Amino acid sequence: MSSHPALKTESEPTREPVTLPLLQERRNLGEPIVMITAYDYPSARAAQAAGVDLVLVGDSAATTVLGHSATTPVSLEDMLVLARAVRRGLQTPLMVGDLPFGSYEVSDEQAITTALRMVKEAGCDAVKLEGGGPSSVARVRAIVGAGIPVMGHVGLTPQTATALGGWRTQGRTAGAAVRIAEEALALQEAGCFAIVFEAIPSDVTAELMALMEVPVIGIGAGPAADGQVLVFHDLLGIRDDLGPRFVKRYASLQDQMNDGVTAFAADVRSRSYPAPEHGYSIAGEELAELRKRLAAR
Ligand code: KIV
Repeated sequence: MSSHPALKTESEPTREPVTLPLLQERRNLGEPIVMITAYDYPSARAAQAAGVDLVLVGDSAATTVLGHSATTPVSLEDMLVLARAVRRGLQTPLMVGDLPFGSYEVSDEQAITTALRMVKEAGCDAVKLEGGGPSSVARVRAIVGAGIPVMGHVGLTPQTATALGGWRTQGRTAGAAVRIAEEALALQEAGCFAIVFEAIPSDVTAELMALMEVPVIGIGAGPAADGQVLVFHDLLGIRDDLGPRFVKRYASLQDQMNDGVTAFAADVRSRSYPAPEHGYSIAGEELAELRKRLAAR
């Protein structure tokens, strides 16, 4: 027998679904926007219970749940499986699906086809793609034109980290910061409803905020952004190392998982699991009958 579906016994507070106008209003009012990644039903349930605003089915799934060392190998089919599971656990946050590397760069048509699949087959409300160069901006325009909201992503863009010189902070010179500003403005102008700023000096973000009209969600980009996002596995400590400098850890679940499985293995080996309370019973007369029938075989 495998694991049973979780019973939804807790009464969750009633919340309105998060919409694009609501996000914009939050930004205009200066109310911080909360975003987190999720990759499956339990992580989606945690995001739902916490009442976050945005959930990203990130291509960081490649490293967090699929065991790759970079985000580039994750496929569209992988992302669709994960996004469907997340969809089943979410009711109110806006769900954004990351377009994986290789699924949107070739042409506007490829980008629209991929975005449509994320919406139709996985129930995403919006998609995200990386980069603010001319081809990314063209893809944003094309997808928005097809009626699908797009979130942009500038600064450290993991899919092209090799081309950026590795996993390093971006925008550390005036020239590099101006390039990020130009990319963010081009994405905003192309119709992005929000933009992720990743691994950018806090002071640079603070300067660029004056140019931005759509919500900016920061990750390693300092406190000036309109909202913050962290990777689920980073903030809950479901990894062996501490992760990047910008991660704040709120739990150490990898340690707890290791301890739990180690304790289970020890219990099985010492025969202290299962105990009588973990078993099922059969009526005495049925057991007697069973023994009789087995003996007669
Ligand atoms: O894939 C991801 O998790 C992301 C976030 C870091 C924004 O793109």
